[in-house]
Amino acid sequence: CGIVGYCGSGDATEIILNGLEKLEYRGYDSAGISIILDDRLATKKRAGRLKNLENAVAENPFTGMVGIGHTRWATHGVPTEINAHPHTNREGTIAVVHNGIIENYKELKERLQMDGYAFVSETDTEVVAHLLDFYYKESNNNLLTAIVRTSKDLEGSYAICAVALNSPDELVALRHRSPLLLGITDGGAILASDAASIVEHTPKVIYLDDGEIVHLQKNKAPVIYTTNLDVVEKEVKLLDTDVEKASKEGFDHFMLKEIFEQSESTQNVLNRFIKGDSFDLGESTFSAQEFKNFDSVYLSSCGTAFHAAQVAKYLIEDLIQIPVRDEIASELAYSNPFITEKTLLIVVSQSGETADTLNAMRLAKSKGATIFAVTNVVGSTIAREADRVLYCQAGPEISVASTKAYTSQLMNLYFFILDWAKKLGKLDNSLETQLLSDLKQIPNHIESLLDTVTGYRELAENFIHCESVYFIGRAVDYISAKEGSLKLKEISYIHSEALPAGELKHGTIALIEPGTQVIALATQRPLIEKIASNIVELSSRGAEILSVGFEHKGLKESSDRFIAIPETSDYVAPILSIIPLQTLAYYVAVLKGNDVDKPRNLAKSVTVE
Ligand code: G6P
Repeated sequence: CGIVGYCGSGDATEIILNGLEKLEYRGYDSAGISIILDDRLATKKRAGRLKNLENAVAENPFTGMVGIGHTRWATHGVPTEINAHPHTNREGTIAVVHNGIIENYKELKERLQMDGYAFVSETDTEVVAHLLDFYYKESNNNLLTAIVRTSKDLEGSYAICAVALNSPDELVALRHRSPLLLGITDGGAILASDAASIVEHTPKVIYLDDGEIVHLQKNKAPVIYTTNLDVVEKEVKLLDTDVEKASKEGFDHFMLKEIFEQSESTQNVLNRFIKGDSFDLGESTFSAQEFKNFDSVYLSSCGTAFHAAQVAKYLIEDLIQIPVRDEIASELAYSNPFITEKTLLIVVSQSGETADTLNAMRLAKSKGATIFAVTNVVGSTIAREADRVLYCQAGPEISVASTKAYTSQLMNLYFFILDWAKKLGKLDNSLETQLLSDLKQIPNHIESLLDTVTGYRELAENFIHCESVYFIGRAVDYISAKEGSLKLKEISYIHSEALPAGELKHGTIALIEPGTQVIALATQRPLIEKIASNIVELSSRGAEILSVGFEHKGLKESSDRFIAIPETSDYVAPILSIIPLQTLAYYVAVLKGNDVDKPRNLAKSVTVE
């Protein structure tokens, strides 16, 4: 979900609706807005896309100078107008927007029901509206006192903004384990889940921390408190105005634009790290002594970012020769992690706000581990809580399906691992020269892979009527297979599964029948023969194979279709082999008429567990 709040001398409706547009990637199943007018609190909500809300507001316009808005990704309660935020008290004079989950909402609901409060929605957020109402009345309409008291009752994760008709010049907000930033404008202040909603108004921001309350009052400077009402002095930081560069620039979809941006975004990484014949990561890495102290390495993340981390595992084990354990972030706590103060935990996150990844990281931190983060968002919670950070600098990624963030994550991880190996004396000069030269070629290779974009569209025709698609690969190609499969299912809604090629015969081969589409990854030279044999096993059962790999006679001959990956070393091949898979998934989704940039049920940044 995404939230926006505004208090100042500007047009709150316009600022909030514009802000929500920038946050729509965080959820788009319903949206709503509440604005304080002279005589009432105007609240409008709509199920479905933000456009529905914008149209409804355009039909009966209202505006004021204080208000809040929300775009939702449903957790508790189906995406209907009633469940959409803002939620209000019975009189409709107090409105609340919330991102996160109130874990003790059932308890609070029962308590409030005993006090005579009636509930209309199925959401956890509605308890906040009633709770705030209760404390607001109890404190003689003191909105700040009311939010302070409310904060003491809430358990879970939340970023909350609230307004009250009887406090017409005020807005209060509360942050606990959900992102919230405060932008300071000339005439007022904006609160938002993401800098994207703030940057067009001001570069000046304050990153809020857990347990902080913001009190905005018209014509006064914002004040930030702890939940014990002690004033917190916060540093004002300047946003990177790059966040503004988020338009399609002639492409039909953000996803295609972002696919094409990959030669530039990978080049950015090279420009940052390559120094003459060598490389330098500056402050973003560890010293040789720090690297020596780690005796175990964990990787944890979600979705596409987890795949980037898993690719890194192969390189770390190969170059550094240390065992690496990889755990999906939402599972880390259950896997009895043997994390100590000598553990290095590597987390990767495009948004830097994913709740599952944050939780994994906090768990490891509580056990004394050192945290290294790779993220695309400067100032994000993960960036701020990690011990060291490498920023991907891929630029804003708008499409929900991640593309350029993934290849940038890989590039950054590769440099980090090279630096690590070098500092431990495990990277000899010739390997360093070889790998740097391969990495330098990546932007050109990406361009050449994208030269034949119409070819991908034609290939995509083979997939649009499939019920299932299988991706296979061995070693690190299995990870690229998983990422290719995720891309396809996210946006085309075709079921797909990725398997280690050798595992297929132990069960899943039962599902192969004439016409089944299989995509085989083959970029690890010592394993190409083996993959070619797996392909023969599959085609003899009627499967149609598209292989993506290095030029190889046996591979080409055994496959129905073939995409050649430009010549490079096996190590860096995963940065290239994903490009055709992203592009193919894109065209399958386009041909199926799907909403490519905003696939159903997904959100780009998931800040709930
Ligand atoms: C969501 C997105 C995925 C993404 C994952 C991790 O589920 O839909 O595309 O890979 O979160 O996000 P992060 O921001 O941590 O990389």
